[in-house]
Amino acid sequence: MAELNKQRVLHLLNRILEAELAGVVRYTHYSFLVFGHNRIPIVSWLREQAAESLTHAQQAGEMITLLGEYPSLTIGPLLDSHKHDVDAIMRESLDTEAKALGLYRELLQCAEGRSVIIEEYARQMVYAEELHASEVDKMLRKPGEISAFRPPRVVG
Ligand SMILES: [Fe+2]
Repeated sequence: MAELNKQRVLHLLNRILEAELAGVVRYTHYSFLVFGHNRIPIVSWLREQAAESLTHAQQAGEMITLLGEYPSLTIGPLLDSHKHDVDAIMRESLDTEAKALGLYRELLQCAEGRSVIIEEYARQMVYAEELHASEVDKMLRKPGEISAFRPPRVVG
């Protein structure tokens, strides 16, 4: 097996940890700002996303200590656009999730053929994050519209 670039992997894992922790704060914040008829299901969906981000942050932290290293205690950038309609929240979520997905993809590239555990972890996370992005994309389509709001990158 080729050698793993441990510094690069650690850098990516720490950025992932920070991005996922920012997700916890972001989704929790959004969940306070939903009003109107559909408030209850949307608030509960946002809180589920916050909980999922926390699980993802914990998984990234566990990978860091598995490598015998110290996890970052910072959180990723938070953007408050002060746009609180559900469409704006979803678009903002799609953008920030795309950045996290990019980090997981980079981690997968770094680990491919070099570390089974990190490769497997990164692959599962790319799958989970892509599925999540597709769910948000479907929520951004108008009822009756089939084509993707933002078509996914299918290859790579
Ligand atoms: Fe995530």
